[in-house]
Amino acid sequence: MTVPAQAKQCRFRIPLAAFLVFAGASLSVHAATIATVNSPGNVLNVEIDLSKEGRISYRVQRNGKPVITDSLLGLRLRDGAQLFPWFKLQGKQTSTVDDTWQQPWGESRTVRNHYNELRTQFAETGRDQRRMDIVFRVYDDGVGFRYEFPKQPKQQELAIQGEFTEFTLADPKSAKAWWIPAGEWNRYEQLYRATPLDAVGIAHTPITVKLGDGTHIAFHEAALVDYAGMWMQRIDSGKFRAVLSPSSGGAVVKQAPFHTPWRTMQISDRAGGLYESNLILNLNEPNKLGDVSWFKPAKYVGVWWGMHLDTESWGVGPKHGATTANTMRYIDFAAEHGFRGVLVEGWNVGWDKDWFANGWVFDFLKPTPDFDLEKLAAYAKSKGVHLIGHHETACAVSHYERQMKDAFALYERLGIDVIKTGYVCDAGQIERQDKAKGPVIREWHDSQWNSNHHLRVVTEAAKRHIAINPHEPIKDTGLRRTYPNWVSREGARGMEYNAWGEPPNPPEHEAMLVFTRMLSGPMDFTPGVLSLVGKNGMPIQTTIAKQLALYVVLYSPVQMAADLPENYEKHMDAFQFIKDVPVDWEATRVPNGEVGDYATIVRKDRNSADWYLGSVTDENPRTLKVKLAFLEPGKTYEAQIYRDAKDSSYQGDKRFKFDKETRQVTAKDTLTLRLAPGGGQAIRFVAPR
Ligand code: NOJ
Ligand code: CA
Repeated sequence: MTVPAQAKQCRFRIPLAAFLVFAGASLSVHAATIATVNSPGNVLNVEIDLSKEGRISYRVQRNGKPVITDSLLGLRLRDGAQLFPWFKLQGKQTSTVDDTWQQPWGESRTVRNHYNELRTQFAETGRDQRRMDIVFRVYDDGVGFRYEFPKQPKQQELAIQGEFTEFTLADPKSAKAWWIPAGEWNRYEQLYRATPLDAVGIAHTPITVKLGDGTHIAFHEAALVDYAGMWMQRIDSGKFRAVLSPSSGGAVVKQAPFHTPWRTMQISDRAGGLYESNLILNLNEPNKLGDVSWFKPAKYVGVWWGMHLDTESWGVGPKHGATTANTMRYIDFAAEHGFRGVLVEGWNVGWDKDWFANGWVFDFLKPTPDFDLEKLAAYAKSKGVHLIGHHETACAVSHYERQMKDAFALYERLGIDVIKTGYVCDAGQIERQDKAKGPVIREWHDSQWNSNHHLRVVTEAAKRHIAINPHEPIKDTGLRRTYPNWVSREGARGMEYNAWGEPPNPPEHEAMLVFTRMLSGPMDFTPGVLSLVGKNGMPIQTTIAKQLALYVVLYSPVQMAADLPENYEKHMDAFQFIKDVPVDWEATRVPNGEVGDYATIVRKDRNSADWYLGSVTDENPRTLKVKLAFLEPGKTYEAQIYRDAKDSSYQGDKRFKFDKETRQVTAKDTLTLRLAPGGGQAIRFVAPR
């Protein structure tokens, strides 16, 4: 790959002092490099350029090769001139940070945070001389940057209508992209698209791109707090511009001093490197909640899949799932098989009519007459099980906020310490009502207002030691580091689409998620449907072994065993893996993977010396070699292997064919994984006791 000739002509390199002398004179060149910073291991380099009109841009190189070429920076305001041209550099500072921090729960216990920071301080040359800093943090595995606005007399409030922020990919012609469109009626629950880069329109993040030379880049953002979510719109060949999710007032409103979320690029020569990167977490603020050991990562079962199969209902009546007797059955099942949690949906008043269309009737304090909440909470407690709460808002978000405190107090009293929340409605249909009986204003799921709503829920719940798991959420931007009771979320097509999706999830879906949606954080996918049929007997396009592999591949600290108890009774041999697999990890690695094709992930249990492996493929069979060098040398492990049978396939009845095998292995061994079309493999490596 070469630097485009035009870009080369535009660029000259002279010492900063010399540039400042020239800057007033009219220059025949377009831009001058005014600051540069390398990552700690000199893998990545960022350069900041300033054009003669005072426009700021940046570039990124990896190992000396351009990855991001000239990309503009700036903001468009509603009340005042754009923050775009006529900037001059006032100062710059670099600094280095190298520390490690511990996750209270997560994919790994210890995270290294090692970066070089470049802060460039700009002021406008004329007009109001407004000030704006641009801060880059450059890691070996990625880059984050944000705008910062110091307190200043001429710009106290900023109403941000849009950004000029660009991301211009080098060598776009041979690049591929994996993405879902933004601005659609569906929020994030769409099938991922694998297209040439120049077929991308407007996309949600994370969006993952592979350049012709094999470099992988995932664009996303970190610490989305009190701001609108960023979409990426392709405006020219390889050039994207940040677009802000719409705001009801037409702009994101901020008071200085403030900073935007980090705009992030994870960059690696392999897909697995994107997943192993901790960039997003590192760019978030440390834990603000203190000791959160009250949150227990755990697996759960629940009154759930029956509703999606339509054999049970959320509303009361003959099919009502959330009855006292049915819930007791689930509590017994959970106690017998070692699950901590039992989720019950449809337990409260409000589901009976068209709940999709009206969330204003939900009562989060009132159980239905056939659901004895007090008795069930006590019964669960007597069995060492915890009910998991459910708050479906159907997007009547202000209505929910008015009941939230009392609802959390009720749950706290009953020992219910995890709540699944829900925001079922089309995009842009979140209902906000600032005053009771006042007008209802519509917001987007990823609007500034709704980003604040989620934090109101999470911080209020934290006061009562309750963890939150939203469905139809705002996208994850790593805020679990700051608020570790924000434990999981949905935010992509989960298992439910295998019940009623048109179309259901295709075999490539999970290998796609690993390198797109999962780069943002944990997902409550709700795997483990071993009966392999959806609504009206629709076959699910997966094998049994793949369902098991999902517990390792799709990380969440709350992980559901989604099938009905009576279905697990028929698959006790495979179910054993679901019982054994942990949900909290010491370390995580990705030995192999290609976006949307296949992925293998190995993780070490946090509470034992055991390792686990999960591997999934798309519709194609795979033979993958995995070196077991991650195991502790000199120890012999018992590998309990759950794999596709020789003639297994996601098609027809072959999807039920699976084999279980036990072998002795050591760190010197290499395993050959044979994955059936649409299949997978799950392994527990039991360390010597
Ligand atoms: C959508 C959620 O994803 C699903 O898990 C839940 O059952 C329904 N909403 C009802 O809240
Ligand atoms: Ca959903």
